[in-house]
Amino acid sequence: MRFDVLTLFPAMFSALTEHGVSGRAHARGLWSLHAWNPRDVTEDVHRTVDDRPYGGGPGMVMLPDPLVKSVAAAQAEREAAGHGGAPVILLSPTGRRFDQRVAAELSVSAGAIFVCGRYEGVDQRFIDACVTDEWSLGDFVLSGGEIGALAMMDAAVRLLPGALNHGESARQDSFEPSLSGLLDCPHYTRPEVYAGVSVPEPLLSGHHARIARWRRDQSLRLTLARRPDLIEAARQGGLLTKDDERVLREAPGLGEV
Ligand SMILES: C[S@@+](CC[C@H](N)C(=O)[O-])C[C@H]1O[C@@H](n2cnc3c(N)ncnc32)[C@H](O)[C@@H]1O
Repeated sequence: MRFDVLTLFPAMFSALTEHGVSGRAHARGLWSLHAWNPRDVTEDVHRTVDDRPYGGGPGMVMLPDPLVKSVAAAQAEREAAGHGGAPVILLSPTGRRFDQRVAAELSVSAGAIFVCGRYEGVDQRFIDACVTDEWSLGDFVLSGGEIGALAMMDAAVRLLPGALNHGESARQDSFEPSLSGLLDCPHYTRPEVYAGVSVPEPLLSGHHARIARWRRDQSLRLTLARRPDLIEAARQGGLLTKDDERVLREAPGLGEV
C-alpha cells in the first residue's frame, strides 16, 4: 500500500513512519509514504502557496496551482509504480465523517493521495478539478489537515495483515463487525488486586463462555450509555440477540431503549 501526502509540513509524518505499530509495518515494507510539498513546485522567489481570499475576510487561502501540480506529480509517480487510480482525499471539517468502515475500505485498497489544507482552506477550483473525496475527523477545527491524514493512515495501516502482532486484536476493537459495531469492553491486567480493587470475577473464572458473556454485557452497557446510536444501528442490522436485548433492558437506570 502506498500513501502520498501533499503537505507544507512533511516532517510531521515521521510520527507515523517511525513509531509504534505503523512504524514497524513501514520498516517491514507493508506500506510506504511519499510527501509532496506544494512549495517545491512554485516558481516565484517567495515560493508562495497562499493568497488573500476574494470577497475579503480574515486569513489566507491555498492557491490552486501548486496543489494541482503536486497532485499531478504524485499521480504520475504512482502510475509508474503500478499504484494508479488512487482517490485524492482532502481533509476538511466540511467533509463526511471518517469512521472505522472507511478505514477498513482504505486498508484493502492500493492507498490514496491526501491533501492537507492550511489557513482558511484551499481554493474551491482545486477541489472541483482534483479531489475525489472529502473526509472530516469530527466536528471541530484543526489548524491543518496533517493530523487528519495521520489519523486516517494509522487507522488503515493497523488493519493491514501482519501489522499487529496479534492479528485478531484489531478485529475485536470498538466499531468492528465482530463486536456488532459496539464499543469495546473494559480491560484488566496484573495485579489481580490494585489499590483495593479486584479484577471482575468472570475474567478470573477461566470459563470461556462466561468471559465472553461478561465482555458482551459490558460492551452493550457502555455503548448504551455513551453511543446509543450504535445500539440502534446494531439493532437495525439484526446484530443483537435476545440475551443482548435483555441486558439492555436491565441496564442500570436507563429503562426502556
Ligand atoms: C483552519 S482549518 C480551515 C477551516 C475552514 N475554514 C472551515 O471553517 O471549515 C485548516 C485546514 O485544517 C484541516 N482541518 C481542520 N479541521 C479538520 C477536521 N475536523 N477534519 C479534517 N481536517 C480538518 C483542513 O485541511 C483545513 O483546510
